[in-house]
Amino acid sequence: MKPFMQWSEALSVGVPELDDDHKGLIAIINRLAEAEATGGPANWVFAELERYARDHFRREEDRLAAAGYEALEAHTRQHHAFIEWLDTVKTAYNLDPSSRHYLARTVNDYLRTWLTRHILGTDMKYKGRIQ
Ligand code: FEO
Repeated sequence: MKPFMQWSEALSVGVPELDDDHKGLIAIINRLAEAEATGGPANWVFAELERYARDHFRREEDRLAAAGYEALEAHTRQHHAFIEWLDTVKTAYNLDPSSRHYLARTVNDYLRTWLTRHILGTDMKYKGRIQ
């Protein structure tokens, strides 16, 4: 299946380790799109996103803190909003596992918006300012 979304240099924040994390998120988006298209299982997405949030957000926030980045607090608030959204959608899924196709669509819509608004918007602001 053709990838739903592909990483490109336009998405690079200039830190290979963080770019790798973002590539991992795109892989999750593509895998979820495939699950939605084929009717395959999608509940793996919660553990994958929890791991992404735990590992990537910490890596990024640690670097921003080390660089004395002035917008760290506002940036971190967006990360917390992602974690809260994930908790909410996971709870909804657990209450009604039959809604998995709806949730696959909802989760993928949110992730694509997150990619555009957070990674291309908020993350990109630190490009060139951290290592
Ligand atoms: Fe790359 Fe702020 O998440």
